[in-house]
Amino acid sequence: MTNVERVCAFLDEAQTYYLATVEGDQPRVRPFGTALVYEGRLYIQTGRVKAVSRQIAANPKVELCAFHEGKWLRLAGELVDDDRREPKKAMLDKMPMLRGMYSEDDGNTQVLYFQNAVATIEGFGAAKETLEL
Ligand SMILES: Cc1cc2nc3c(=O)[nH]c(=O)nc-3n(C[C@H](O)[C@H](O)[C@H](O)COP(=O)(O)O)c2cc1C
Repeated sequence: MTNVERVCAFLDEAQTYYLATVEGDQPRVRPFGTALVYEGRLYIQTGRVKAVSRQIAANPKVELCAFHEGKWLRLAGELVDDDRREPKKAMLDKMPMLRGMYSEDDGNTQVLYFQNAVATIEGFGAAKETLEL
């Protein structure tokens, strides 16, 4: 399993992670659930109309955190907007519940991938693991 696959599997198992952005000098955080490995990269999904999307456009540095089975994963890096149809389709195919709200061609669906990203996985009494994506 690649590091990207490991991080995605952790996020899938946790089901919910919390994505932090910055807006000026103010951190913002909200629950997210989308995660996909596509072309070897970790993608997430949002809507262009959302504040989170505007914050990422202004400053692509984000961090997310998920907790599952006694371990927490943090992933910090930059998000790159990928406006191609194929990764949007792959995301909606993996998470068909999203199709109630989104489609590949709605002009709102946005997928972004992590670059220059580092994940850490920690647990009480467990050695901290560092994974470069
Ligand atoms: C469990 C859970 C998972 C969610 N996953 C996502 C997601 O992957 N992408 C997304 O854009 N919104 C997702 N949402 C909705 C966002 O949390 C919500 O739209 C939030 O207000 C967006 O942040 P913003 O208000 O700063 O733009 C999820 C909500 C919940 C409760």
